[in-house]
Amino acid sequence: MRSTLFLSISLAIAFSLLTPLSSRGQAQNAYQYNIEKSLVASNGAVVSAHPLASQAGLSILQKGGNAIDAAIATQLALAVVYPNAGNIGGGGFMVAQLKNGKTVALDFREKAPAKAHRDMYIEPDGKANTDKSQQGHLSCGVPGTVAGLFAAHRYALLPFRVLIAPAIELAEKGFVITAGEARGLNNLQSDLKKYNTQTPVFVKQEEWKAGDTLIQIDLANTLKRIRDNGQAGFYEGPTADLIVAEMQRGGGLISKEDLRAYTAQYRTPHRFQYKEYSIVGMPMPSSGGVLLHQMLKMIEDRPIATMGFHSPEAVQLMTEVMRRAYADRAAFMGDADFYQVPVKQITNQAYLQDRMKSFVTGQPTPSATLQPGTVTGYESEETTHLSVIDKKGNAVAVTTTLNNSYGSRTVVGGAGFLLNDEMDDFSIKPGVPNMFGAVGGEANSIQPGKRMLSSMAPTLVLKKGKPYLVVGTPGGTTIPTQIFQTLVNILEFNMSPQDAVYKPKFHHQWLPDELVLEKGFPENTKAALQKMGYPFGKERGGIGRTELIRVRPDGRFEAVADKRGDDSAAGY
Ligand code: GLY
Repeated sequence: MRSTLFLSISLAIAFSLLTPLSSRGQAQNAYQYNIEKSLVASNGAVVSAHPLASQAGLSILQKGGNAIDAAIATQLALAVVYPNAGNIGGGGFMVAQLKNGKTVALDFREKAPAKAHRDMYIEPDGKANTDKSQQGHLSCGVPGTVAGLFAAHRYALLPFRVLIAPAIELAEKGFVITAGEARGLNNLQSDLKKYNTQTPVFVKQEEWKAGDTLIQIDLANTLKRIRDNGQAGFYEGPTADLIVAEMQRGGGLISKEDLRAYTAQYRTPHRFQYKEYSIVGMPMPSSGGVLLHQMLKMIEDRPIATMGFHSPEAVQLMTEVMRRAYADRAAFMGDADFYQVPVKQITNQAYLQDRMKSFVTGQPTPSATLQPGTVTGYESEETTHLSVIDKKGNAVAVTTTLNNSYGSRTVVGGAGFLLNDEMDDFSIKPGVPNMFGAVGGEANSIQPGKRMLSSMAPTLVLKKGKPYLVVGTPGGTTIPTQIFQTLVNILEFNMSPQDAVYKPKFHHQWLPDELVLEKGFPENTKAALQKMGYPFGKERGGIGRTELIRVRPDGRFEAVADKRGDDSAAGY
């Protein structure tokens, strides 16, 4: 069972030396490739934001690698073929269940540089300067992705040089870009000229078009240094020199010491039970796992399945649950290494029941009257997720980001990769909304070495202790609410994985007090919610890009790539 969307891309170059990245016995190359929206596979499956990255992961599974190997190779390939979010200059999180049943959560979120400080974006007039936190050199956190991939490698089977080989080949020999990528690069041209001290390869005199070839020699050389010198190939030596030189040319803060000191961190996964399912999510510094916990637990005792999918009753209940969870996010959540986040209290059943006491069926609870609970920030859309599973029993969910689309827009001169603008995920001033209109406070204030709060939510759902769903999505603050809906769609509304991913989503994040609907949301439900008094934000063309794998009762893997982008599944 397979649904394929053929991406028609003319051969820009006849590259006879190109080694095909194998694909289900068919030749697959970087100059002509298919987008696979869904498939069923017996041995292993990979879903990511780009067909060539999914193929890179598949080729590693077929070489005898496990899901961790494939996730590493997929992420590295995304750094080449999906420059707006796939990255080595950003950070992210991995949640995995290993074949021995052990679950792990890996934090490779960026950190504030040592020279960062709480008021670094406050101008003399007292106003917060979000231009500086959102673009250019000063917006960059110390990247974590490369350290994360090496930390993950302890559970892999193949040498790192094998896993990085597809990415090097894609960077060195090039690949043809899709229409979406051409649009993204064209929209970026003026920012690239503004925020770079040396002209990057993404700048082009003519418009980018679908089918153009993108070759990234500087990036290939950076990847080769990582291949040859391991983590030090990025955090020390010539790559570190190039990052620091870039920072010095553009007024950024990242130093050699910041790079040398960066470490990825294994953390205890955030785990909870929803009915017969165990949900395994990311703990702080991502709010993803805790928000999902709060939202699911606030609906667990309510008959949502009988209310019906997209019924006004179900959407209203889920909206109010989102509102309550996000009010807590703004008040309590941040890097738990720096701030005591009351995770136990805000996920306690009695606390969550108390939060729902103000819920009234058919009536909005205005955010102005809803404060965080009594116990003792925001993100961008351009993040990317990959889900991988193998027949050995390993399941891996990885979400990584540069924050904004193409991050800070700053490419490290001579090293060919984009740096993140993750500093904007801190609360740069209490109460000042960041690029997504969200607010935060002390819990998520800037401190040297601190990790900015995230919403990324790579998630596993286990049934009888075995992987059942592997899921995640980009989408900034909409990430947890989308995962919430995807899970409710499957676990409560009994939907197929494809419908669960493709059906229109909605989002509420406490502040701004508005319900955001995705294009295609049923008009009658919207009208009913309007009648109840819900204010609406601007309708979104698409919310997120969810990559989901479900394990079927026969043990085969059903992989679904979101229709909202070039996302693609691969498997065998
Ligand atoms: N920058 C997106 C997130 O971390 O949630």
